[in-house]
Amino acid sequence: MLAWLKIPVTTPDLAEPASAAPDPVRPEQAEEFIRLYHAENPEAGSVSRRLRAVMLEILRTGTYQHTEDELVFGARVAWRNSNRCIGRLYWRSLRVRDRRDVRTADGVAAECVAHLREATGGGRIRPTITVFAPDEPGRRAPRIWNEQLIRYAGYRAADGSVIGDARYADFTATARRLGWPGGPGTRFDVLPLIIEAEDRRPTLHTVPGDAILEVLIHHPHHPWFAELGLRWHAVPAISGMCLEIGGICYPAAPFNGWYMGAEIGARNLADTGRYNLLPVVAERLGLDTSRERTLWRDRALVELNVAVLHSFAVADVSMTDHHTEARRFLTHLEREERAGRVCPADWSWIVPPLSGAATPVFHRYYDDLRLRPEFVYHPAERPCPGPA
Ligand code: ARG
Repeated sequence: MLAWLKIPVTTPDLAEPASAAPDPVRPEQAEEFIRLYHAENPEAGSVSRRLRAVMLEILRTGTYQHTEDELVFGARVAWRNSNRCIGRLYWRSLRVRDRRDVRTADGVAAECVAHLREATGGGRIRPTITVFAPDEPGRRAPRIWNEQLIRYAGYRAADGSVIGDARYADFTATARRLGWPGGPGTRFDVLPLIIEAEDRRPTLHTVPGDAILEVLIHHPHHPWFAELGLRWHAVPAISGMCLEIGGICYPAAPFNGWYMGAEIGARNLADTGRYNLLPVVAERLGLDTSRERTLWRDRALVELNVAVLHSFAVADVSMTDHHTEARRFLTHLEREERAGRVCPADWSWIVPPLSGAATPVFHRYYDDLRLRPEFVYHPAERPCPGPA
């Protein structure tokens, strides 16, 4: 009996990762990607030579290194393959920040902040991804526990009610347990980053206020709207998904685009499990909320969305509306078809959360398949909610 193997392992009490030591790369996945890369980039040289080198590297080390060009292509195609994303028309323009040499928690935090500054562009938002170190056999890469780089805290009171974003009540509690003193206690306190570096210990990192652009929400015709004190951050930067390219996992690879107004106006501020503002807006609009058939929810929803789009436009911050974006998506589908590719899409995510049938993406079906490279969730790994 190998009793000496039973050394007690100290894992952080909050994280119980699925796999401590990542597996070797599967050669067939590497091959699939290298072939795709060369098929779409004929100028890149001999595919057989590159394949031989990659296979040799995998045999020797259990993994291989992407060239800078392969990484850029892989990240862009992962976006192209995101079947839930309506905004893929500009997939080729994704800016890729190669930070594969960054492994420490402080290093990751600093680069996330730099990412936000560059991506925000003073309001001219640029789709950007920062790719940190990949998992390697026997060497776990850093992870970011936050679902997005910027999210608002949800403080749970004793009676179960939540101040702030109820979706992040658990995450907020986790941050508190790790030593976050909490913010000022408003409905829009930005959460700290929780980064798990190689030693598996999660650490807290504040995102400096001047790296966070926010827009105060007001309405073009209802002056009282500003009194509601609503705001939202300009950059949605998803940090809880793993970028998988050619069998290699990049668990920390935060990426952003710009917002479609309805994400904020019809979901974040409106969902009952989020800011639940439709009753508040309806009341201020003086609507009859005693019966559903007055459609007070729908009318409040439209005015809330008008306010979001108007406020971002006045503040000169990039944002699109769901009608424009739906049309762009059809253009994207046409282009993909012309390029001889299938474009995977999930109807239930592509159709906007308001006025679905008033947009052209409603009236058709899609091929909902999984293509690689891709962004994926590894839900067991992070104590935070799933898809946003
Ligand atoms: N729906 C998410 C949010 O409201 C963001 C998802 C990504 N959206 C985007 N426009 N790139 O924060």
